[in-house]
Amino acid sequence: MSTTASARARRLVVGLTGASGAVYAVRLLARARELGVRTHLVATPAGVLNAHHELGLDRKALEALADQAHAPGDVGACVASGSFTTDAMVVAPCSMKTLASVAHGLGDNLLTRAADVTLKERRRLILMVRETPLNLAHLRNMVAVTEMGGIVFPPLPAFYNRPASIDDLVADTVERVLALCGLEDARPQEWRGLGEAGRS
Ligand SMILES: Cc1cc2nc3c(=O)[nH]c(=O)nc-3n(C[C@H](O)[C@H](O)[C@H](O)COP(=O)(O)O)c2cc1C
Repeated sequence: MSTTASARARRLVVGLTGASGAVYAVRLLARARELGVRTHLVATPAGVLNAHHELGLDRKALEALADQAHAPGDVGACVASGSFTTDAMVVAPCSMKTLASVAHGLGDNLLTRAADVTLKERRRLILMVRETPLNLAHLRNMVAVTEMGGIVFPPLPAFYNRPASIDDLVADTVERVLALCGLEDARPQEWRGLGEAGRS
């Protein structure tokens, strides 16, 4: 966390797009709230469509999970400017379309503008990209974002901690993302070595 960050409440920008896995955004917003981190949510129309399909949540219900919600067309919102300091931005989940827009610096809606700002200010940007299999455009766009300093974080579950439920898988992935955002109070599960895991 930077000195500026410690002088104010921690701020996280959360983007929700139309890729599968709206549950990651829901969990992320809930955990950020538990940790006392202020969240700014930008959900695209496809993101809301998918969240409704996967979780039965409408825009109002999603926005209630955040401290502040911004319309994707509101390019005048605070998170559109680098002068509004934030600690990190996570796009959870991130569609290939939004990935492409970020990779090419389009800033064509508030979400991609906020991502562009996060990169230009050299703040942490984490894209939880979700698609399979991947074509060359997807892969090239991931390389471009990585070259710009962004972090490509596909929400791929780890099975070595022996998750008992989908909730466990989602929770562990989100905790790792929050830790990557620099939140020292996030608690991703630690691997303690095969010996210990094998004996338990
Ligand atoms: C049910 C459903 C699931 C989808 N899953 C994905 C996905 O996993 N990854 C992806 O890149 N696009 C997926 N899409 C397509 C995106 O929603 C679509 O490309 C959309 O234009 C993305 O817009 P956005 O990035 O502005 O949210 C899905 C669409 C639907 C309706």
